[in-house]
Amino acid sequence: MTSNGFSKQIRPDPCSFIIFGVTGDLTHRLVIPALYNLAQSKLLPDDFCIVGITRHRMADDKLCESLMEGLRKFATRPVDDAIARRLLGCVSCIDADPSEPDSFDRMAAQLEALEERRKTAGNRLFYMATPPTAFAPISQQLGRAGLLREDNGYWRRLIIEKPFGTDLVSAQALNGELLKVADEHQLYRIDHYLGKETVQNILVLRFANGMFEPIWNRNHIDHVQITVDEKLGVGHRGSFYDATGALRDMVPNHLFQLMSLVAMEPPARFDAHTVRSEKAEVLAAIQTQSPAEALHNSVRGQYLAGRVGDAEIDDYRKIKEVRSGSNTETYAALKLTIDNWRWAGVPFYLRTGKALAAKRTEVAIKFKQAPFAMFRDTPVDRLSQNYLVIGIEPAEGITLQFNTKVPGPAVAIDGVEMKFLYKDYFKAEPSTGYETLIYDCMIGDNILFQRADSVEAGWQAVQPFLDAWKSAGADGLEFYKAGSDGPDGSAALLERDDRTWRKPS
Ligand code: BG6
Repeated sequence: MTSNGFSKQIRPDPCSFIIFGVTGDLTHRLVIPALYNLAQSKLLPDDFCIVGITRHRMADDKLCESLMEGLRKFATRPVDDAIARRLLGCVSCIDADPSEPDSFDRMAAQLEALEERRKTAGNRLFYMATPPTAFAPISQQLGRAGLLREDNGYWRRLIIEKPFGTDLVSAQALNGELLKVADEHQLYRIDHYLGKETVQNILVLRFANGMFEPIWNRNHIDHVQITVDEKLGVGHRGSFYDATGALRDMVPNHLFQLMSLVAMEPPARFDAHTVRSEKAEVLAAIQTQSPAEALHNSVRGQYLAGRVGDAEIDDYRKIKEVRSGSNTETYAALKLTIDNWRWAGVPFYLRTGKALAAKRTEVAIKFKQAPFAMFRDTPVDRLSQNYLVIGIEPAEGITLQFNTKVPGPAVAIDGVEMKFLYKDYFKAEPSTGYETLIYDCMIGDNILFQRADSVEAGWQAVQPFLDAWKSAGADGLEFYKAGSDGPDGSAALLERDDRTWRKPS
């Protein structure tokens, strides 16, 4: 989906696609397979070249071979040799290291020579597929060497991967560094959740249909639940994860993308500036919690050994590079409120965790109960709950739960479901989820990327929880068995408000 229309017919301008971190996992697993899918769908420019930046000199054909190998391993569609060769045959490697500024000046000259040959017209997309500590040093050098200057009619854009900062202060500092060398319109901060069709569809569901918007507010909605449950444990990411935890890893980015799309005001126009302003606005309206409120309105858990499907999972604390006695949470649940006219008094319950019983990503909107009075003198003893469920994974679709009369002479009511599944209506080619994001960056549409103010508003909203948990240490950290539904406190967070998490149907 782009703000330029619903069908992707714009062919991007000629450009060079310059990857920092070209030898890494992200490039091999996602970036190159996504570029391949774009090439196959004829959505890459005719004049295009991939340039890999490495710290140590590497031969072009060696890099090409490694990327080709990665493509064969991680491609989401059968690989057509001719397309793959056309894409990767043009790969060039340039060595540059931000700790040696001269190397960036040399890179500038090398890029110009290459662009002359490839006819890419000076347009450059820099992709930072590196560890986050490299974002600032690389961008400083790009800026210093003039590589991000947009003059003579060409464009220069920078894609920055997550994680974007580790708290409010570090996110502000990183934004500050980036904005010293580039303008906001050149920055494309990735959140891969915005590459998911079902996530993009939240905007369409809400604003391209007449029936939802009139009831999308505190008069009709009781509360909203956002769930991102994962079956996988922390695996080999012990060192990163132990310094990060579930809250930082998932909430200010992925869960807040879902929350802002569900809660934003209708944008007056479908363009990047207006849509992103509305999203930032709603995140900024999340009520700030005192340390005591933050503890009261949150739950954190860590998994213990257990079985998830066929896999035996060990205690989180036994993972390589996890500190013994670590208090890092692998599960987080929060109760948040949005302090504006639409949502005042409507809680948003968010939960996410690792090593849980099932993979499930969904937004469930629970509508207020119908008055029961009419059924008081009938055999009906309760009404089932009205939910609108936006399924993101594994079931991609939308489900409406409502009450209906059970056929027969007696008055009996039961809850039923009306279900729309993407796979029943649309045939989508398997993809990595990065195609739309990369394509949008090439055509200069940043509607699906995070703006500085949104990123900072997200960190601002989670900062009270990070601080309160840090001060509490081990106090309040719960443990749950791998393969379960998470810590007991998560259910209790809703039960004390007379609510329950929606059970999957
Ligand atoms: C990543 C997190 O950003 O998102 C991972 O770092 C997590 O820990 C992943 O597993 C979840 O993404 P998805 O698309 O599988 O829900």
